[in-house]
Amino acid sequence: MAGLENEPMVLCLLLLITISFGLSFICTVAELQRFEHPTKSHGTLSFLVIGDWGRKGEFNQSEVALQMGRIGKRLDIDFTVSTGDNFYDNGLEGENDPAFEESFTKIYTAKSLQKRWYSVLGNHDYRGDAEAQLSPLLRKVDSRWICLRSFLVNAEIAELFFVDTTPFVEEYFTEKEHTYDWRGVTPQKTYTAEVLKEIESALRQSTAKWKIVVGHHAIRSVGHHGDTQELIQRLLPILKAYNVDFYMNGHDHCLEHISDNESPIQFLTSGAGSKAWRGDVKELNREDVKFFYDGQGFMSVQLTQTESVIVFYDVFGTVLHRLTTFKQLHSAI
Ligand SMILES: *[C@@H]1O[C@H](CO)[C@@H](O)[C@H](O)[C@H]1NC(C)=O
Repeated sequence: MAGLENEPMVLCLLLLITISFGLSFICTVAELQRFEHPTKSHGTLSFLVIGDWGRKGEFNQSEVALQMGRIGKRLDIDFTVSTGDNFYDNGLEGENDPAFEESFTKIYTAKSLQKRWYSVLGNHDYRGDAEAQLSPLLRKVDSRWICLRSFLVNAEIAELFFVDTTPFVEEYFTEKEHTYDWRGVTPQKTYTAEVLKEIESALRQSTAKWKIVVGHHAIRSVGHHGDTQELIQRLLPILKAYNVDFYMNGHDHCLEHISDNESPIQFLTSGAGSKAWRGDVKELNREDVKFFYDGQGFMSVQLTQTESVIVFYDVFGTVLHRLTTFKQLHSAI
């Protein structure tokens, strides 16, 4: 009897559930996982950017780490961004690979660096067990570690869009020299198309003052690897359409600042976390190349609603280059 009395309510509930399921199917560009990282109460956000680093302290990795700790303290950073190639030479062998602690936990020991590390995968990470780096188990070992393929960090005045760029690069699918862990990213065409859709959808919805996209591979670089054609063709048009301010990457083991001739976007390479000094820079005299440094170092980003300051440092923490950008407080989004 009691069951019958409640029948209208049960029906109503069922209807509601059906409608909401239906709706969620209609809007199915899968949503990227989003992390909330509120801007500090006084309205500033600051973080460090480092790439291509995990070599158990060698090739000046430890020296760079020391200076990151010093600058991180001075800027009171909110988090660190890793542009990938987190563990050399071939990523992690598995979730229990001691390289995770030897190249990360035991290297970036400064107090100021004990904040979240938002990380993407690089091509070297794909040469090992790529999924191991994504495993929540690593967060139990070191709670700073946040590594996903593509995801978002909403930091109020800024939004950061992390893109898994390795599967975009055709060459890795045909070369015979290395093997890659493509679990979860095949078929390549479907996967990369989906990533672009998700990023585009997230950019379209973003109301953040500063839009920052992070990937491992450079869109523009005059270093060893140079431009990444696949990203110029497929990712760059989206970044321009949604007024992205900065594209940050690693891959080339250097520090670079290149501007775009047709849009305000600035290309920033921070891939100098350990082995560097490759010595094969090209086209240094190009007008859009604002800065290039072939040695080790890192980058800092400081943001307010109206101003961004990006600074490059060498292995001694010496300032090499600074880029300041202003925005109107009430500009149209
Ligand atoms: C470490 O940094 C110093 C200063 O830039 C440089 O002279 C030295 O060659 C670097 N070591 C390596 C292994 O790159």
